[in-house]
Amino acid sequence: VRYVRAFAPAGIGNFAAGFDVLGAAVAPVNGGLWGDMVEIAEITAADESSFTCTGPFAHRLPADPRDNLVVRTLAFFAEATGIPLPPLAITLHKGLPVKSGLGSSAASAVAAVVALNAWSGGPLDSARLLEVAGRAESLASGALHLDNVAPILLGGLILVPPESLPRRLPFPTGLAVVVASPALELATVEARRVLPKDVSLGLTVVHAQNLAAFVHALHTGDRPLLRETLHDLLAEPFRAGLVRGFREAQQGALKAGALGASLSGAGPAVFAVAEEGDAPAVAAALEAGFRGAGVAATVRICRIDERGARVLAEEGEVPS
Ligand code: HSE
Repeated sequence: VRYVRAFAPAGIGNFAAGFDVLGAAVAPVNGGLWGDMVEIAEITAADESSFTCTGPFAHRLPADPRDNLVVRTLAFFAEATGIPLPPLAITLHKGLPVKSGLGSSAASAVAAVVALNAWSGGPLDSARLLEVAGRAESLASGALHLDNVAPILLGGLILVPPESLPRRLPFPTGLAVVVASPALELATVEARRVLPKDVSLGLTVVHAQNLAAFVHALHTGDRPLLRETLHDLLAEPFRAGLVRGFREAQQGALKAGALGASLSGAGPAVFAVAEEGDAPAVAAALEAGFRGAGVAATVRICRIDERGARVLAEEGEVPS
């Protein structure tokens, strides 16, 4: 029996300064796996393909499996390889909350392509995997933007250039990424609807200046410049009102010493970057900010996940 299990970590799109351009994969510092998993098992040709969802957020997925992103990703993968897939038993372990701003759709799509690719003997390179997962994820988010898909697939803090393949940026040592996941949902498509179609020349210049300075600060480890630039001038002002407790959590994190705090992806999750020693206080402040607004939030102290999506088990017996 052939069997593959692939994991894709949680992601932070935009990474404050880089709307649709920067993103990071993250992992809890306590070592737990935080993300989505896809398992594939071959079944006999006589059996029908099956799709099962398990995990804490399985109940939040569409009831009809044909609407599930993993199932839709199968078709894109088969199209990209030109090889039809045989009957398969597929299981999605949904470890990320849906509509959370944590790259939940991207993680499902990425875990699916990585599992399918391993199962098929690796026909697609990482550029093609990115293309297939990006295409699949755009079904969920309503637009193609790779700032979640790319880091979740490749790992690291990633810059998505205008034309060429994503590039990995350095992340200064000694910094933690604290992530608060409030008990709220916000669809990316809705959070994109509130954004203006056009922005002024003045804002364009300030945004370019901020993004360029942020990338420079990453390369040089310039803490004051990180503090100055770790913010979102483009999307956050329009989205803040969609997330109850966001401003309170953000202000609390900054008061507790964070270098910056913003919405993770399209929200409602919030992330803060802080010195490792300040991370527990920043985590407490994020949680208290949401709690003060009547919203329960789960907070994790994370690091950048430099590995990204990966195969956890392969070619073994199907576990009973
Ligand atoms: N960059 C996207 C947005 C979300 O902010 O709408 C993550 O892909």
